[in-house]
Amino acid sequence: MPAPTHALAADLLIRPFDAACGAEVIGLDLSRPLEDADFARIHRAHLDHHVLVFREMAITPAQQVAFSRRFGPLQIHVLNNFALPGHPEVLVISNIKVDGKPIGLGDAGAYWHSDLSYMPRPSLGSMLHAQELPAEGGDTLFANQHRAWDALPAALKNAVEGRRAEHGYLCKYAELQKRNPWRPDLTQAQIDAVPPVAQPIVRTHPETGRKALFVSEHFTTRVLDLPEDESRALLAELFAHSTRPEFVYRHQWQPGDMVFWDNRSLMHLAGGTPDHLRRRLNRTTIEGDAPF
Ligand code: SIN
Repeated sequence: MPAPTHALAADLLIRPFDAACGAEVIGLDLSRPLEDADFARIHRAHLDHHVLVFREMAITPAQQVAFSRRFGPLQIHVLNNFALPGHPEVLVISNIKVDGKPIGLGDAGAYWHSDLSYMPRPSLGSMLHAQELPAEGGDTLFANQHRAWDALPAALKNAVEGRRAEHGYLCKYAELQKRNPWRPDLTQAQIDAVPPVAQPIVRTHPETGRKALFVSEHFTTRVLDLPEDESRALLAELFAHSTRPEFVYRHQWQPGDMVFWDNRSLMHLAGGTPDHLRRRLNRTTIEGDAPF
């Protein structure tokens, strides 16, 4: 087979949404390797808008992996039970069951979170490529954590600056398993792979220098060096503030959408899919820096 050509996308356009974050990328074919100049524009747009939407992408999982790798090494999710066969770096997000067995992680994103914040080096960004979409529901919501930080009342800023909070993969696992008994029991090796980590409550984006709130209902368990009741009250205030409607962009999926977001700037949430409708997407996650 001839090598794919590296055509510079002369008509590449970034069209920002009228929302708290997000932009559509027009005129780029992700099935071909990107020229450095195009890559630089996508990289810049990702930093500026935090969520990029590429429409009608007819790309294979291998092409998604190759594009993701341009941004850094890929992470393999601890629930490797739901890796796409032949592609350990691709996590299947799906509510579909075959012969009663789930083919993917059906309740990923059931709570607001930033991907892999429970790892010492959480995700820089994640890509989701739509494979099969429901006729209704199935949206993904993104909350801009730079705006959340900027709008935080001064007293709360003072209360959290310089503090750290614990993040743990197991935080909501039992609760999710109770709700969704198809969730597998974790092996000891899986549990050992995700010990709790301490992260700054306010992180600085390593590329833009902007501050962002970095706590989430899904993974943050407690504020370090605070009594339990104070920690719980502070986290409840931060969770409520960080996802206020004015910080949120709601993505309504279209066939072929590939969405690439910045986990250092955003939290996200799966809006939910009616049980009788099928939804399937392929996710890759790119390793980022240790938050500071
Ligand atoms: C995720 O949290 O990565 C999944 C989001 C979604 O399914 O909409």
